[in-house]
Amino acid sequence: MAGDKAVAQVWASRWIFILAATGSAVGLGNIWKFPYMTGVYGGGAFVLIYLFCIALVGMPVMLAETLIGRRGRHSPVVSLQNLAVERGASVRWAWAAVMGLICGLLILSFYSVVAGWSLSYIIDMGKGSFTGISGDAAGAAFGALTADPVKLIIFHTIFMAMTAWVITRGVVAGLERALRLMMPLLFLLLVVLLGYSVTTGHFMDGVRFLFHFDPAQVKDGLLPALGHAFFTLSVGVGSIMAFGAYMPRRAPIGATIITVGLLDTVVALAAGLALFPIVFAAGLEPGAGPGLMFVTLPVAFGNIAFGQVMGVVFFVLVALAAWSSSISMLEPAVAYFSDRHAGGRARFTWLLALICWVLGIGTVLSFNEWAELKFFVTGADGFALWAWGVEGGKTFFDLVDYLTSRIMLPLGGLVFVLFAGWVLGREVVREELELKNPLFLNLLLVLLRVVAPLGIAVVFVAELLK
Ligand code: PHE
Repeated sequence: MAGDKAVAQVWASRWIFILAATGSAVGLGNIWKFPYMTGVYGGGAFVLIYLFCIALVGMPVMLAETLIGRRGRHSPVVSLQNLAVERGASVRWAWAAVMGLICGLLILSFYSVVAGWSLSYIIDMGKGSFTGISGDAAGAAFGALTADPVKLIIFHTIFMAMTAWVITRGVVAGLERALRLMMPLLFLLLVVLLGYSVTTGHFMDGVRFLFHFDPAQVKDGLLPALGHAFFTLSVGVGSIMAFGAYMPRRAPIGATIITVGLLDTVVALAAGLALFPIVFAAGLEPGAGPGLMFVTLPVAFGNIAFGQVMGVVFFVLVALAAWSSSISMLEPAVAYFSDRHAGGRARFTWLLALICWVLGIGTVLSFNEWAELKFFVTGADGFALWAWGVEGGKTFFDLVDYLTSRIMLPLGGLVFVLFAGWVLGREVVREELELKNPLFLNLLLVLLRVVAPLGIAVVFVAELLK
């Protein structure tokens, strides 16, 4: 599985790494998934665990991935193999990167469907379909969209093609230009939305929901919060590792990834703070699930001055943020295959995108034709792998989401931190981070070697005991 073509270009400055990593991290995870999961898992406890997971597990994994990527300078699989050989360790470590690359493809399959929803909302916003709309009517509009598999497949196809197209063109140049404009605009519109939330008169209800800590909710929120910390930071897949390979040697890794982590967290919290007051003001259900953002935002934009225009811009930004993330899900797999077979980049890209597209059809159908098809059902008469028309269990979308966020991402991340902490070890970490202060180095090593792995292990065990 070896390939020796070193990455050709190194990014001009660390700003570009920050942009690419932020582009990968900030996406549907922040604006769509974080608020709806917070709603489903009851609010404050989930948010608090999520923040802990970001700081104590997610950030160390991001550090590990960046380190490994920059040191290895290849696609994630090959970087891990080469570094393992160099350190006299087993090349089996690289299997984590293989799992990561499969995980990226699985995530992309449903991500593209949801990004397709935002494409559809750009059009509906532009047509003025949401002007003056109530919460119930917005719910009905979302229901009508998800009930229509043909429409969903069309938008899913468009988004998947957009993703593949950028990858065939090479990621760096286009991404850089787009992100410079997009990120500031996204922040600006979130601030506008926050402003609207304040005027609903329910702002404090939103704050209370997000930050009120209820210990009774901790148990159920543990694994979801850990999984989401990985998802939102784009770690555990190898995406950040793939980008790390392009990072200049002298760029300060620590400061860089802290910037990325903070930006990502701020966007998620801002999205939550903007959405929940609207949810309460419009009498909507916080635990409504994946439709939360798509029901809440039309109410906001449908009822403010210039809402139609701002709504279009907002959903364009959501689609762009999703686009810059989706690219990074496909990149590790494409990089791996083009590392092994030179010259086939475009062909691999389209082939892999096709596989993700087909899988995505399963997610499309789980909102309509297959809504009754459940996997992993535990009911009165025992366990069934799949069954039709039963209570409980997971739809196809739930299943893919569960396998990726709750299992594969944490496992991948676990291997990456262990590799950085124990296999690369003290000297390499010191060298790569140019750490002069031994206290700081020791602290980081404890994070990589003990705290982060233990955190993941504890959550897994707690989940099994539940
Ligand atoms: N972090 C992205 C988001 O929050 C999703 C992502 C997951 C991207 C894994 C790459 C790898 O939308």
